[in-house]
Amino acid sequence: MDLFSTPAPESARQRVAELTQLIDHYNYEYYMNDRSLVSDFKFDSLLRELMELERQYPELALPTSPTRRVGGEVNKTFRQVTHRLPMLSLGNTYSIEEIEDFEARTRKLLDGIPFTYTCELKYDGVAIGLTYRRGELVQAVTRGNGAVGDDITSNARTIPTIPLKLRGNYPADFEARGEVVYPFEAFEAMNRLREAEGEEPFANPRNAASGSLKLQDSAECAKRKLMFCMYFMMFPESDTLLEPQYGTHFGRLEAAKQMGFKVQPYIRECKDINEIKAFIDRWDTDRWQLPFGIDGVVIKVNQTNLWDRLGMTAKSPRWAIAYKFKAERVSTPLLEVTYQVGRTGVVTPVANMQPVWLGGTTVRRATLNNADFMSKLDIHQGDHLFVEKGGEIIPKIVGVDLEQRKPGALPIAYTQVCPVCGTPLVRAEGEAGYYCPNQDGCQPQLLGHLEHFVGRKAMDIDSLGSERLKMLYDAGLVRNVADLYDLRREQLVGLDSSATNPSLSGQSLSFEAVPADSKTQPRSATIQEKGADNILKAVEASKKVPFERVLFALGIRYVGEVGAKKLARFFGNIDALMNATVPELATVEDVGEVTAVAVFDYFNNPQHRLIVQRLKAAGLQMATADTRISNVLDGLTIVVSGTFDHFSREEIKTSIEQHGGKASGSISGKTSYLLAGAKVGPEKLKKAEKLGVPLLSEEEYMKMIGSQTEQ
Ligand code: IVH
Repeated sequence: MDLFSTPAPESARQRVAELTQLIDHYNYEYYMNDRSLVSDFKFDSLLRELMELERQYPELALPTSPTRRVGGEVNKTFRQVTHRLPMLSLGNTYSIEEIEDFEARTRKLLDGIPFTYTCELKYDGVAIGLTYRRGELVQAVTRGNGAVGDDITSNARTIPTIPLKLRGNYPADFEARGEVVYPFEAFEAMNRLREAEGEEPFANPRNAASGSLKLQDSAECAKRKLMFCMYFMMFPESDTLLEPQYGTHFGRLEAAKQMGFKVQPYIRECKDINEIKAFIDRWDTDRWQLPFGIDGVVIKVNQTNLWDRLGMTAKSPRWAIAYKFKAERVSTPLLEVTYQVGRTGVVTPVANMQPVWLGGTTVRRATLNNADFMSKLDIHQGDHLFVEKGGEIIPKIVGVDLEQRKPGALPIAYTQVCPVCGTPLVRAEGEAGYYCPNQDGCQPQLLGHLEHFVGRKAMDIDSLGSERLKMLYDAGLVRNVADLYDLRREQLVGLDSSATNPSLSGQSLSFEAVPADSKTQPRSATIQEKGADNILKAVEASKKVPFERVLFALGIRYVGEVGAKKLARFFGNIDALMNATVPELATVEDVGEVTAVAVFDYFNNPQHRLIVQRLKAAGLQMATADTRISNVLDGLTIVVSGTFDHFSREEIKTSIEQHGGKASGSISGKTSYLLAGAKVGPEKLKKAEKLGVPLLSEEEYMKMIGSQTEQ
């Protein structure tokens, strides 16, 4: 079908139905049954055809359409929702004896009534509840505090294992609860990508899953490859009228599987404590074979009509319990402590150990975090270290096996010099570790600096990833950020990683968050003509990036996005900023003494001044554009508190300034208004009342600046 012609409404409706059914079917087979029925190309073209039809006929774009999986909705804030039924947590234990007690107590309370248990895996992820009405997903809410959670529906729609429309038979109104997990493979791929883009890697899959559900851009969430595992079905009304299959937890999950949910195949019905123990034993060892993290086993009474009879303790039901796995621990000899220099110059000590099998992988290396951690452990030459692995994939050093210490072994002192460039290390007051101060001459820092400069939030030169930057660096073409603007096409075409300096390539630049053995080898990639053109185009386009982002891109210590914005607005142009004194710099809102000194030092370094001059000559934005929209708020000082429907906190402050007002952090006699959003701070409210400062709602504010509310 020609994507650019508009079909008649009736045939469009038919085709939309056809495509929806086909894509849903392919998705289902792919995500539920691991069966790929079409090529990626074919799948993408069907999806694109559907998107195009929905664009032409917006009334045909249903909230359950597979096109919603791609995301695109932006969440300014996440609406707070009260759970219809509270999301309870389970009592949990690390002790088998307590599981035996639980089993005996349950049997006693049920006093001869026949019943069974279900044993299932306890996912290590983020709990959410999904509401389905007449077979359609209507709302997804995080657990929050158990009573109130965040509405994350648009992000949930992008998770392929969350059905948007149910199959077969289903109750008219129910809630599917389960856990969103980040499968290891996708998690590691995401972390590698983040590192390549100069972003902090996620600490563990659970945190990453939780952060992903709170992303403002749902298209970004779609890329995360999260998985929803359903473990619980509940009904808002009494369950007595339901069909018999819903009378057991096992039956409910079976039914859920038929509806299209991903339900663990590992669940077992167990009739006594021996079967429960066998299940626990099996998964205590087999858990490392799973593609996602679990941290225990959940045991529930299977017959749902017995739940009420068993009742609740203060905060968890008496008909279920969680057994948590202990972290696995081994002891292995330390071979050597090496040091890695990160992109910001921070030096991280790493323990290289005799390879040891731990929780499904061979562990050879683990971080010693920083100088403080190392001195607390008091490591000596040849010590055996205790290494642990909990529900996460990153091994942790938890102590020294003192019984194995050799007499006369010497303590290991932290390195005094940078392992890369030999510069004596320094330690900032109050910090736990050392860093290499040779910002402009130490290879990992230079590369880190370049990566930061081209990053999305900085100059956004997306055709230069870390691999390419390293090629340019090794070839001697780029040694500082200004060199990027001197690149010529003929220097780029044909450049490949094998031509680069062998003594530097292949060196790991940052501590790997994943086991060393799972790291992929660097690929060799030659820059072709098209690649060279893309690089030059992106470099050229970066000359339009606003001054505040250029300032952020320079990578001045302690100057983040917000600080750069404030400095740019305050000084207006680079010359004023370069010539500012420390006290002047410190008057800028949010710029403290430490940052002021860092900015001053940065611009007083002749090398940096030269780079800035070269960037200026290349045509980068070195002054703020006038962003004033109106003068309606001239002379008004407005304090902002709470959350807003149409703005983030930063956006509403920018908006105040763009209309001539001053956004301030604290209420005083000079405050003109308290702009109060949802969840406004109670202290602020009290103070406003005391000082007679009038309140302003978001709507009133929008009227004031003359902008219309959406919808
Ligand atoms: S059942 C009222 N089953 O563990 C019973 N919970 O405190 C509801 N979890 O945060 C929970 N896997 O999100 C249940 N198979 C499973 C689970 C599971 C993980 C989480 C749950 C909650 C915690 C229990």
